[in-house]
Amino acid sequence: MNPALSKIGAQMSHLTGVRAIMKDIVETLRAGKGQEFINLSAGNPVILPEVEQLWRDCTADLLASHATCSTWGDPKTAVASEYGEVVCRYGASQGYQPFIEAVRDDFNRRYGLNLSNNNILITPGSQSIYFYAANAFGGYTADGSQLKKIVLPLSPDYTGYGGVTLVPEALIAYKPTLDIDEKANRFKYRPDFSQLAIDENTGCVIFSRPCNPTGNVLTQEEVEKIAALAAPYNVPVLVDSAYAPPYPALNFTDMTPIMGENIIHCISLSKAGLPGERIGIAIGDPEMIQVLECFQTNMCIHSPRYGQAIATRAIASGALGDIAETVIRPHYQQKFTVVENTLDQAMPKDLPWCLHRGEGAIFSWLWLPELPMTDWEFYQELKQVGVIVVPGSSFFPGLREDWPHTQQCIRISLTATDEELTTGMQRLAKVAAEVHQKVLVS
Ligand SMILES: Cc1ncc(COP(=O)(O)O)c(C=O)c1O
Repeated sequence: MNPALSKIGAQMSHLTGVRAIMKDIVETLRAGKGQEFINLSAGNPVILPEVEQLWRDCTADLLASHATCSTWGDPKTAVASEYGEVVCRYGASQGYQPFIEAVRDDFNRRYGLNLSNNNILITPGSQSIYFYAANAFGGYTADGSQLKKIVLPLSPDYTGYGGVTLVPEALIAYKPTLDIDEKANRFKYRPDFSQLAIDENTGCVIFSRPCNPTGNVLTQEEVEKIAALAAPYNVPVLVDSAYAPPYPALNFTDMTPIMGENIIHCISLSKAGLPGERIGIAIGDPEMIQVLECFQTNMCIHSPRYGQAIATRAIASGALGDIAETVIRPHYQQKFTVVENTLDQAMPKDLPWCLHRGEGAIFSWLWLPELPMTDWEFYQELKQVGVIVVPGSSFFPGLREDWPHTQQCIRISLTATDEELTTGMQRLAKVAAEVHQKVLVS
């Protein structure tokens, strides 16, 4: 059956950005039966033994536990175990109270804040926060007279933002400026404040810090400047902290979460080892949190509670913060070192190339300024030598301007082994030399 689709139906039943490329990758891996591919496209975090053990231990503790709170069941009839309470019952839309309290206390203690429960909302993954916000704050106003923009202040950014709005024309991204260290073959994107427009036509602002795909970390001053531009218009600024401290702490440069009246600080436990449990946390002003909570009630009632119950233990005991700093962060930071050292050695000296500074996240981002083909074609060339990366053009959602740079980059996942990364980068260097050479001789 082929049901007629609404405008929104047609739009939402299409895969956007990297999800569309993933289809090609899955088909490539399936078709190349005998061929061994080095897959440097993955966004799934590595299952690190210490992290899996933490979640096993927390699960065992949950299974062994009994309810201690009289409001969890009728004490006259039975004392339900906490397991029964979280798995066999519906709960509040805002989230599982013990989890909210654990996050509240941890943030207050770590960052000297004064958060109350009303500042916190738990969502099924952090992607859903961006969906709620993009559609609650962005799009057409109630009287239809104004289109409120969803502003991405620095492009490239997370490909998932491309699919969050029901009003695609609302999404607008801004070209950055580039800080280039040619000698070192390194660069860094910075927001271009001379272009960035945040005004009465802005519904909300979203960016990732650390950034997927580039590993960039916007500085504290840059974040504060964006928040200050948005404040006079009461525009919420969502700081996507899926890779930030305190968990998963995938920052390789110093950074602290930044709170503010119009900032919604968004956390994900996916890269801390719970992607399947779908846990997102929004922290912000109670009025903004309330809007998102109502959106959530309408959409899916609440986030699953089992994941929240085990995460309560991991956060309250301090174990999650410790493992993030001592296991998760060093693991990926070392992978980035493998990528940069191999490229430094293997890339031809006469070929222009620039690696984005590795400030965090689980990816590295390579720019080939004189690439004589598109990023998609280069991706195809790499497939021929058994290396799969992600073409960079998927990471510019909302960017309207023509900018050759969007087709000169690739994303390399740091989830592979050292050996795979080394071989992958050596093959990449060889292919890059060949494709640049072909143009010179033709
Ligand atoms: C920057 C960024 N934001 C959000 C998400 C979505 O994460 P979640 O699993 O919490 O929905 C991802 C996932 O890779 C991401 O990279």
